[in-house]
This record gives sequence, C-alpha cells and structure tokens, in this order.
Amino acid sequence: MNKTVEVLPDQPALVARALELILSKLETAIEQRGRFTIALSGGSTPKPLYEAMPSLREASLSETLTRTPTAGYAYANRKLPWDKIHIFWGDERYVPPDHPDSNELMTRRAWLDHVDIPAANIHPVPTLEANPELAAAKYEQQLKEFFNSSGVEFPSLDVVLLGMGDDAHTASLFPHTEALKVRDRLVTVGNKDGNPRISFTYPFINAASSVIFLVAGANKRPALAQVFAPVADDFTYPSRLIRPQGELWWLLDAAAGLELQH
Ligand code: 6PG
Repeated sequence: MNKTVEVLPDQPALVARALELILSKLETAIEQRGRFTIALSGGSTPKPLYEAMPSLREASLSETLTRTPTAGYAYANRKLPWDKIHIFWGDERYVPPDHPDSNELMTRRAWLDHVDIPAANIHPVPTLEANPELAAAKYEQQLKEFFNSSGVEFPSLDVVLLGMGDDAHTASLFPHTEALKVRDRLVTVGNKDGNPRISFTYPFINAASSVIFLVAGANKRPALAQVFAPVADDFTYPSRLIRPQGELWWLLDAAAGLELQH
C-alpha cells in the first residue's frame, strides 16, 4: 500500500486538490485503458467537488491547470471525455432515487445533470429492489457484468472516493456491524441506526487502483487519531480496514488534519 496524507489549508483547497488528483487518475486511466471508472461517496464533504465538475464542461481546463498545472494536462483546451467516464457509488441509502437522502440524487443535481455524460455511463445502486439484500446482490451482479469479472478476483475501480464519519465509518461500513465481516462479496448491506444502506465491502474498496479519502472539519480529529494510530480496533474504527493494494490518499483540511502526526 502506498499511503499519502496531505493537509490542505481549507475546504476550497481540499476540493481543488481532489479535482487535480482525480483528473490525473482520469487522464492515466483513459490513456492506458480507454476508460475511467470512479465510485463516489455521499455526505457533505464531496458535494463542492461534484459541483465543480460541470465547470470543466464549458471552459477549457486551462484555468484549472494554471492552479493545478500537474493534472489533467492532456485535457487543456478540450472538454472532458464524458463518454469514457463511468460513475458508480461506493454506498447508497436504501431509498428511491428521488428521495432527499439519496446519494444518487445529490450527485445528479450537483454534477451529472449538468454534463453530457451518457446515461449508460451512470451506474446507480438499484435501490428500488424489494429489499436491501436484493439491491446489494443486483448491484454486485451489475458490477461483475461491467467488469466482465466472474472469477474470485475483485474487479479494480480506478478510483474510489470515500468520506469518513466522526465515528470513523466509511462508505456504509459502520462500527461493529455485520457488513465489516463480509469479505467474499463486492457489495453488502450496511446498517446505520437501523436504517439499511447498500455498501461496497472493504475488500472490494481495497481492490481499487486508488482510494481517496476527503475529510474535513475538527469533528473528525478524534476518529482520525484512532484510524492513524499504530494499534486500534478495526471494527471500532472501520476506516482502518481501508488498506488498498494500490494508492491510498488522505486529503484533509487543516481543521481535520492539523494535529495529525504522519
Ligand atoms: C454517506 C457517505 C458517508 C459519508 C460520511 C462522511 O452515504 O453518507 O458515504 O460514508 O462519506 O458519513 O460524511 P460527511 O462528508 O458529510 O462528513
């Protein structure tokens, strides 16, 4: 595992850095494999990032590149190749896609409704299934079909974007829940205070080429201290379970990461 921790001055800087990193991964993936696959997280931290994505549609990337010259260089003065970009969700609430709590709805309103990404490139969690278990099983089947993966190997997304709760949960892998014990599936059912969630399992997240945590706010410091501690219980602090075979990035704002010794 190749772990990088960056503390940015504030949330706008966090968003700009996340954009740069994602564009860099996007460019490499499309150059090497002709497509880019990313799983998104819900919550409030990534929302400004999603809201920034449509701005890449009209203007060239040049002004973005002046701020972040190292990223997305191949796309300077060109629009992003939305037809080569595939969107998944690392977790979703078990609610219809028009429900105010839906991560899909938040993402469409902030980003996807404002760019010409083909509908077939958006892969939402099928939350209209009769129960959470069926929704998880169907999403797993859809992922396996997309990645043409029938074997025991977990398919590898280019990027999995994650947040972290102040209880150190990530995706919908909450402390001391059954979802943390699932190691032989891509997708499982999470549980937050009795409310079912659909979530990538931690082994599937760990199969990604790059996992990027976006964490902001002083309220996250105690959880971060435990997640970064040399020894602590993984089931109490589930973000500790995220140890990808590829790259692990922690992008923190100063409020969250200032005291972190890493
Ligand atoms: C969700 C997210 C969840 C989120 C954390 C952090 O569906 O809510 O996937 O895991 O990332 O709860 O949320 P904030 O970014 O709002 O702090």
